[in-house]
Amino acid sequence: MINQAKSTTLNSISLPLKALFTGYLLVIGVGLLMAGAQIMLTHGMADGKPGLSIDDIVYSYYGHRNNSKLESKLNGSMKDKAPENVRFQLIEWARKGAKAKDWEPSIKGITQQYCVKCHSVVPGIPNFTKLSAFQKVAQVDEGDDYKKLTRISHIHLFGIAFIFFFVGFIFSMAQGFSSRVQAAIIAIPFVFLLVDVSSWWLTKLDPEFAILVIVGGGAYSLASGVMIATSLYQMWVMDWLANRRLK
Ligand code: HEC
Repeated sequence: MINQAKSTTLNSISLPLKALFTGYLLVIGVGLLMAGAQIMLTHGMADGKPGLSIDDIVYSYYGHRNNSKLESKLNGSMKDKAPENVRFQLIEWARKGAKAKDWEPSIKGITQQYCVKCHSVVPGIPNFTKLSAFQKVAQVDEGDDYKKLTRISHIHLFGIAFIFFFVGFIFSMAQGFSSRVQAAIIAIPFVFLLVDVSSWWLTKLDPEFAILVIVGGGAYSLASGVMIATSLYQMWVMDWLANRRLK
């Protein structure tokens, strides 16, 4: 069932309405490109390499959980400073959240024995006679916290739903699609917006879900791209081309 007999079609609406729709779609189109650029610049560099990858998303939302400074140094330049089992104990402590309650019973003694002969006298390196300084290097990067996720989730959902509503509304006047296909294209961005935002939360729990962030974002960018391009084409180019062919 092709919807040729629509009451309002994009090629037949009044010039002022075309101007309104076109202005909106162009600004939204540029906005989407900017959003894409911004994602590349913020998340895209999370793994230290340009371009958006799964690792970037994992690092942004899940963090570098096995990568406190303490752990990487104990496996790197500080490797020869303490025996294996002692280094292991310190890494375990860091991974379990660098709790203050373990300081007096075990951790403090270890740092006294192996670390503070430098890390209290050598200027420019952290002073490990203080718990706070040791906790700082033991901090595990857990990615964005829930407070930030809640904030960006609701801004994202409200803001983007508005964009999809108007882009979908304009596109609903496009012709040449079956109702089902057209309805699906209009629905896709909303569905994948929910997938995208939920996948941030899921990635925080398990890095396996990072792929959904890319699938969600990709699907709704593609669907909005199709809607914007089709709408602009049908408002300005379609009839012009048809008229040229008739001549
Ligand atoms: C012989 C001196 C010496 C001893 C002993 C030593 N360190 Fe270090 N440590 C350094 C120096 C010098 C640096 C700076 C250079 C570097 O990062 O490799 C450093 C850097 C570090 C850093 C990085 C600090 C930062 O903010 O960049 C950590 C973490 C660290 N040490 C942990 C330890 C731990 C844990 C021990 C004990 C098991 C230890 N170090 C024992 C000399 C020492």
